[in-house]
Amino acid sequence: MSVISLINMKGGVGKTTLAINIGDCLASRHEKKVLLIDVDPQFNCSQSLMSPDDYIKYLKEEGDTIINVFERSKRPIANTVEGIQDKKNKELVDVTPIEVRNNLFLLPGNLELYRMEMSPGEGREYKLSKYITATTEKHEFDIVIIDTPPTPSIWMTSALLASNYYIIPVKPDPMSFTGIDLLESIIEDKKQNFDLKIECLGLVLTMVEANTRVYNGVIETISNSNKWSSLKFTKEIPKRTEIAREQLNQKFILDNNDEKSKIALTGLVSEILAKI
Ligand SMILES: Nc1ncnc2c1ncn2[C@@H]1O[C@H](COP(=O)(O)OP(=O)(O)OP(=O)(O)O)[C@@H](O)[C@H]1O
Ligand SMILES: [Mg+2]
Repeated sequence: MSVISLINMKGGVGKTTLAINIGDCLASRHEKKVLLIDVDPQFNCSQSLMSPDDYIKYLKEEGDTIINVFERSKRPIANTVEGIQDKKNKELVDVTPIEVRNNLFLLPGNLELYRMEMSPGEGREYKLSKYITATTEKHEFDIVIIDTPPTPSIWMTSALLASNYYIIPVKPDPMSFTGIDLLESIIEDKKQNFDLKIECLGLVLTMVEANTRVYNGVIETISNSNKWSSLKFTKEIPKRTEIAREQLNQKFILDNNDEKSKIALTGLVSEILAKI
């Protein structure tokens, strides 16, 4: 079982889009049982996998979200015999993801994470890791993919502690290495404070418009770096407006008609499988 986080401290580089599409490809083409976990308070990953109506209905019906991992319910319930008593905390292992497609499961995100970050929570960094161990044992997931927020936070630390691998999506632009340098320094810092076992699987270029000046500049920067040139995935995800548009309709790269992006994604997933 592998746990892979999609991480970059820069926003809008394609973390969420890649998390969903890698998960979908692993489930639909490789028959892997995949769990996606949305630890970003923006919960874009969940919005791409559930329609707004379905998400609201899910919350109303008390479906589990990432909140149940970090803070299990303590709401009081009425009991006719003993009066008001604390609702029993749900065991981590009973926090249940929803199957959004065949073999593709989601533990949805929740906007409440913004509020929760402000409140104390002893040992909260390790809860995600504990949850993944418990849920993969119960549901036999082959691969867990974590979509992370772009800002350093307890959610990011939890993802780092819970993962054996991370993938860095990079959008070729003049500032593309700012987020990577920051990420590497944060990982170094966490290594000093925690027992991190995470390893970089590689760097994926996303939203690629090949042969532009900016793209060529980024390729040159990568090839001049011993570290990143060996870690760059061969396949690159091209920029396609269809990918962005259809994502809001819960459709992914393999559902679209663009052969080039499908070939790029399936090739990328094969490269990932060869490395884990
Ligand atoms: N290959 C692509 N072609 C065109 N648009 C894309 C592509 N990949 C992602 N996008 C779009 O770019 C925007 C940013 O992508 P995404 O949300 O995946 O980035 P992110 O790194 O998760 O952002 P954040 O840091 O806010 O979480 C989204 O609107 C998404 O639909
Ligand atoms: Mg995102």
